[in-house]
Amino acid sequence: MPMLLTREEVMSLLDMATCIDVVEKAFAELADGTAVLPLRIAIRPPDGLALYMPAYLEGLGALACKVVTVYKKNPARFGLPTTIGKVLLQNPETGEVTCIMDGGYLTAVRTGAASGVATRHLARKQEGQVAGVFGAGVQARMQLWAMAEARRLSSAIVYDVSGEAADAFIAEMSPKLDLEIRKAASPDEVLEADIVCTATSSPTPVFDGSRLRPGTHINGIGSHTPDARELDTEAAKRSRLVGDSREACLGEAGDIIIPIEEGAFGESHLYAELGEIITGRKPGRTGEEEITLFKSNGLAIQDAAAAKVVYDKALEAGVGTEVTL
Ligand SMILES: NC(=O)c1ccc[n+]([C@@H]2O[C@H](COP(=O)([O-])OP(=O)(O)OC[C@H]3O[C@@H](n4cnc5c(N)ncnc54)[C@H](O)[C@@H]3O)[C@@H](O)[C@H]2O)c1
Repeated sequence: MPMLLTREEVMSLLDMATCIDVVEKAFAELADGTAVLPLRIAIRPPDGLALYMPAYLEGLGALACKVVTVYKKNPARFGLPTTIGKVLLQNPETGEVTCIMDGGYLTAVRTGAASGVATRHLARKQEGQVAGVFGAGVQARMQLWAMAEARRLSSAIVYDVSGEAADAFIAEMSPKLDLEIRKAASPDEVLEADIVCTATSSPTPVFDGSRLRPGTHINGIGSHTPDARELDTEAAKRSRLVGDSREACLGEAGDIIIPIEEGAFGESHLYAELGEIITGRKPGRTGEEEITLFKSNGLAIQDAAAAKVVYDKALEAGVGTEVTL
């Protein structure tokens, strides 16, 4: 009988440290060739984007499909989140559906986790680094949590075009992470940070890439269409550029596609996929002064890995509702 897991149940079962570990394994499987990751199917109703994202991970025994929507006007118009999703998990041996779970929180945690893995492998290693976050929404919260898992942080800075959103972010995340977080008055202030994350709904660059300090690591997770970007040409050009998937970066990410179209660099500037760094096929950061950039588009392997670990934990804890469909 399939199990149903609500958002609250998923929240009680999924923690960032566990998610970073399984998402790291998923990226390694992608590099090792034991993952099946078909291109996601996109449908564009008038006000949004609906994505159908299947994946199989042989090593983790995870077979799943997520249905996720991104409706940017949702918060203002309906009081609903921008991103809404559900995940269907199957038994890879029988094909049986074992679980249907809410995917909103899971999406945010697995997106944070990918940045956590990238930060683990690409950011400078020293303790006491400062994290900088652009955007103070749902994803930004998980990005900061992941950065705090990957590196011991001394403090954080957040910038959002909505000052109220930044205040709410600080009120929630500072006690949760036991971390001093200050509100930046301008985008430039965030660039004082060592590890920077862009997690906004902006379709245009959120900071001036020429002002990035040497040694910075950036996780760019927001824009995911060819004509939108959070990072300008200079930021992408100055960075050692690592993507979640070459195909997704060159097919979907305006952060990379637009500079290529402008002639700022060629496709070979996309140095590696994250899995190639994790598995040691390519070296990561090569010096303390290098700027590294991880571009995340969001892959179904992240959802499959996170959903499998949630389901396993639910069975162990006796959480969830079994239903006959
Ligand atoms: N890479 C992935 O795997 C992945 C997964 C899920 C969502 N996303 C993307 O992440 C982004 C954020 O999603 P969310 O659910 O957190 O949205 P959200 O609406 O909860 O938050 C977005 C925040 O960005 C702020 N913002 C907009 N323009 C800005 C700017 N120029 N500078 C600073 N802040 C700005 C908004 O005021 C808002 O507070 C979206 O673009 C979404 O599509 C990516």
